[in-house]
Amino acid sequence: MKLTIENKTTFLNDYYFQTLCLLYFPGEKFREDDPGENASSFLLERRDSGFYCKTVLKAGERTAEGSFFTEGYVPKVTFSESDFAAMALGKAYLNAASKLFGFALPWGYLLGLRPVKRAKYYLDRGYSEQTVEDLFVYDYGVSVQKARLAVETAALENKMLVDTRPNDCGLYLSIPFCPTKCDYCSFISCATPKLLGLIPSYLERLKRDLVETCRVIRETGMRLTAVYVGGGTPSILDPEQLKDLLSCLNSCLPKEHIREFSFEAGRPDTITEEKLQILKSFGIDRISINPQTTNDEVLKRIGRKHSVKQFFEIAKLAKTIGFSVLNADLIAGLPGDTEDSFRKSLSDVMELGFDNITVHTLSVKKSAVLRFSEDGVYDPAGVLARKCVEYAWETLRSGGWMPYYLYRQKNIVGNAENVGYAKPGMENLYNVLMMEEYSTVFSCGAGAITKLVNGSRDQICRLANQKYPYEYLDTDLGIREPEIKEFFSQYS
Ligand SMILES: C[S@@+](CC[C@H](N)C(=O)[O-])C[C@H]1O[C@@H](n2cnc3c(N)ncnc32)[C@H](O)[C@@H]1O
Ligand code: SF4
Repeated sequence: MKLTIENKTTFLNDYYFQTLCLLYFPGEKFREDDPGENASSFLLERRDSGFYCKTVLKAGERTAEGSFFTEGYVPKVTFSESDFAAMALGKAYLNAASKLFGFALPWGYLLGLRPVKRAKYYLDRGYSEQTVEDLFVYDYGVSVQKARLAVETAALENKMLVDTRPNDCGLYLSIPFCPTKCDYCSFISCATPKLLGLIPSYLERLKRDLVETCRVIRETGMRLTAVYVGGGTPSILDPEQLKDLLSCLNSCLPKEHIREFSFEAGRPDTITEEKLQILKSFGIDRISINPQTTNDEVLKRIGRKHSVKQFFEIAKLAKTIGFSVLNADLIAGLPGDTEDSFRKSLSDVMELGFDNITVHTLSVKKSAVLRFSEDGVYDPAGVLARKCVEYAWETLRSGGWMPYYLYRQKNIVGNAENVGYAKPGMENLYNVLMMEEYSTVFSCGAGAITKLVNGSRDQICRLANQKYPYEYLDTDLGIREPEIKEFFSQYS
């Protein structure tokens, strides 16, 4: 696509225009050498009485125009100049694109991955829930239902965070290995026999980093409240490896303030009764067991190599063993799925007694096998995905599961979102701390990112580890102690 941008303001760069454009044109490449007749264009200018934007969008033979002028517009909250510029651009774009494609985007022109952070920002400054909902609907073009979802989630987060102190922190351990790779997945996960062979040396290095990190947590005066072992698929570890890693954790963790200890078991085909008993005996009180769907045909279609029967058996076993919180992940919009089949998946996990259910929406990233193998799987209108997430929202809320964390991803089908729902008291604090960047989260292992958040929560420093296990093993940068200590000496 050729995009002509005439930007007579200093507020938004070309990248912003392109990112906005991708909302209706996912996966487009912006190329100067595209024939001129296919060019879409934007004109954004500052006038005496506000910002004016006009856009002409083209898709094949079709063309649509839209414009917006902020003159006289009174937003629901105080807007900065750049907010007004973004509004003129966003509204002109939505106006043209909805005519061109015949559907509206649920999140309007909001581009960020964390819309709840924005809702929370305004709630924290004393605006009422109704005002923030109106802001989302009228000023950002968000649908009424998504505005309610964002505000409701932010309000529940605020309740969860009420006892969080500025020096509270989380700890994440990455186990980026899986028995096989699922076709839709773009997470870093090693699944070939050669890479799986790295697990023993990976665990040795991980334990070293863990011990060091726990020491630094103590030395910097942080209070560890939430621990999360994620992946990949941590339950791929064999019973001896599990015991070894958990013993190390048990001996070095500062335990005084820990409120939760979660373990993403994940794939049912990696979980056994013995492993569940080990987790329980080491004090892990929250685990995930993820079906993604309870339709065997869909599981085959997405290359996820376990059966629905395996999921049911492991879920019932975990219930009997008695973990305090069980989480299940579902994905809306999977290829081969239908509305009825998604409804059944949701009702299955509800009936099995999962108090914490995360409803993801399929996102198709470059590194996923699916992108290359399925024609048209990435449907920007995302009719199925949208119906499924709307159904989940209605059904879970009326059943007593409330939304407590939410995030969006690039290339998410139907421009929808991922939402964690939980019965009261069954939420996952770690997810909220990490997603809202509310507290420091120390991370150990390949692909993991430590996020340091200062006491007044207005500075964030990201320290990314090496992406892949073999790089992590090849280059030992340690846990970046000097950077961590410098950050806290500067801001605490
Ligand atoms: C880091 S993955 C690990 C979970 C675990 N390995 C498993 O598969 O059960 C966490 C969750 O992200 C979701 N997920 C992964 N890839 C996704 C994609 N492309 N689109 C939407 N959700 C995705 C799945 O629901 C998955 O359970
Ligand atoms: S979805 Fe889970 S099991 Fe499948 S490849 Fe991704 S991380 Fe591994």
